[in-house]
Amino acid sequence: MIKTTKGNIRNWDDYYKKEEIEKMPWYSERLDFDLEEELNSTSIPKKGIFLDLGTGPGTQAVKLANKGFDIVVGSDISETVINRNKQLYENRYPNLKFVIDNILNSIFNDNFFDYIFDRGCFHVFEPKDRSIYFNQIKRILKPQGILFLKCFSIDEPMKDGPHRFSPQDLYDIFSIDFYIINIKKTFFEGTLNPLPKALFTVMKLKGNPKNG
Ligand SMILES: C[S@@+](CC[C@H](N)C(=O)[O-])C[C@H]1O[C@@H](n2cnc3c(N)ncnc32)[C@H](O)[C@@H]1O
Repeated sequence: MIKTTKGNIRNWDDYYKKEEIEKMPWYSERLDFDLEEELNSTSIPKKGIFLDLGTGPGTQAVKLANKGFDIVVGSDISETVINRNKQLYENRYPNLKFVIDNILNSIFNDNFFDYIFDRGCFHVFEPKDRSIYFNQIKRILKPQGILFLKCFSIDEPMKDGPHRFSPQDLYDIFSIDFYIINIKKTFFEGTLNPLPKALFTVMKLKGNPKNG
């Protein structure tokens, strides 16, 4: 559940049925600037399988498909938004697929993704669900695969909204099985003014890469 100024989002599908997508707080046409910077500044090859987890409007998945990754999958628990994205984008980008998936009980295969981008999904989960999320991410990401995570920061003073995290919180949750490469204080670009304060974390799953 996530609290917004319009009340609590209890059902994401209802939310996508009723609200105008371009006015949603997280809506951004641009690829997230922290992810863009990371992809440009590191030696990440623009190939492999990329998951845009909790893709919502699909804008991030589209930009990643444009970058030339072999396959980009945008997943979301909302059937409504996934059907919308399929109609709008799948014909235009042969390397882009949208899939209905609940990350807390995911249908994706083990060791499937090279990269996962989570922009605003993890921070909506109740604390009791965080270990389920963690285990699912570990399962579907390849060893040495990278998770890019953007979530609200404890520095954000807004009354409503999702859960907030400190760098130490993220370290405590993820470092058992991930190398934390970087945690950066930043903003969540979208339709809110001022932009909410956020953390952008890059982490690599421990373990030996499988051959082939
Ligand atoms: C804050 S929105 C962010 C949307 C998108 N990542 C973006 O940046 O435009 C969170 C998204 O997570 C999705 N979501 C919530 N719970 C989910 C779950 N259990 N599994 C998959 N997606 C979920 C919601 O439907 C929503 O689209």
